Amino acid sequence: MDELLMIPGPVPLHPRVMNAMAKQMINHRGDEFGRIMDYCVERLKEIFATENDVLIISGSGTAGMEAAISNFVSGKLVCIQNGKFGERFVKIGKRYCESVVELKFEWGTSIDLEKVEMALSEGAEAVTMVHNETSTGILNPAREVAKLAEKYDALFILDAITSAGGDEVRVDDWGVDVAVVGSQKCLGAPPGISAVAVSERAWSRLTGKAPYYLDLESYRNSLEKTPSQTPYTPALPLFFALYEALKIIEEETMEKRIKRHRMLSEGCRKAMTAMGLELFPELNDHSRYSNTVTAIKMPEGITDDQLRGTVKKEFGVIIAGGQDILKGRIFRIGNMGNVGVKEMITTISAVESVLYRFGVVKEMGRGMESAMEVYGG
Ligand SMILES: Cc1ncc(COP(=O)(O)O)c(C=O)c1O
Repeated sequence: MDELLMIPGPVPLHPRVMNAMAKQMINHRGDEFGRIMDYCVERLKEIFATENDVLIISGSGTAGMEAAISNFVSGKLVCIQNGKFGERFVKIGKRYCESVVELKFEWGTSIDLEKVEMALSEGAEAVTMVHNETSTGILNPAREVAKLAEKYDALFILDAITSAGGDEVRVDDWGVDVAVVGSQKCLGAPPGISAVAVSERAWSRLTGKAPYYLDLESYRNSLEKTPSQTPYTPALPLFFALYEALKIIEEETMEKRIKRHRMLSEGCRKAMTAMGLELFPELNDHSRYSNTVTAIKMPEGITDDQLRGTVKKEFGVIIAGGQDILKGRIFRIGNMGNVGVKEMITTISAVESVLYRFGVVKEMGRGMESAMEVYGG
């Protein structure tokens, strides 16, 4: 049985993207690669809504996060965290920065902007935040934190790994100094590439302490060559795939893509609550739910293994569990990349059927009906 991958990345690939990888290798210092690189940079600038430099790294999202910190911060770093990926910035920060202030909020709750302001008012070189906290299904307030960072002259480093390409990320309008995206999420490409958008303010604060492979100045210098290139041999098949994935985004347009992600996640949230399940994030402001992943509390009467195991075994649908402290307590459904109503409906009905079978849901069809109200079927 073909499996349907509905985790928050990696995502199922469009056949055009898969085919793009089955191509002969080319000279990575030649014109053809230069054209691929130029196109990818141009498209990523649109996705980030920025005129800033965009550098592409052969390395997953975490490589982009490490580049973001190591190139631009060596003194005091404030890390906002309300989930697993917020914590990752802390771990990276401890390797490169003199001090790291951990601004912790309970997983699944919103961040408190007053506390962020208080921390920044005590002085910091930079502040990090995860825009779309994949571990908990929360969209954090990037625009608001960017304003605070500017007020206190701190760089704003934003993990947009699971928002860019699926949700609004406005680097220039918001004032994000360093933004990171990963290929295997909303961009709809295979894993292994990350891209980093860097503002002039960030460039003026280069630490000179980045790891050799992640030194972004060398990426910028290589990009300025003719033809454009990368400092070290790029993962060519992944670049071929990224190029095609970005073509698909251009054809769809970012406006429609964002609308589609929002509609798919809204339908998922409505379906889950109509079945009597509870969403994991506790939010007063509903616009703070992630538009690319839904986190749901594991209901009474079924275990994680039973739910995800049966959904996989009987329907071939792969959904994600909780991470770290949330293991067994939540499950997550991704709607990133090129998935559509068909995939969401398949996933929702698989979950609903299994919950019905285990007696968790007493009546079949409520979830599907609510989803279809959103999807217009
Ligand atoms: C928000 C966020 N940040 C960072 C990462 C890490 O990215 P990668 O696994 O590509 O290194 C992930 C991966 O799931 C993520 O969801």
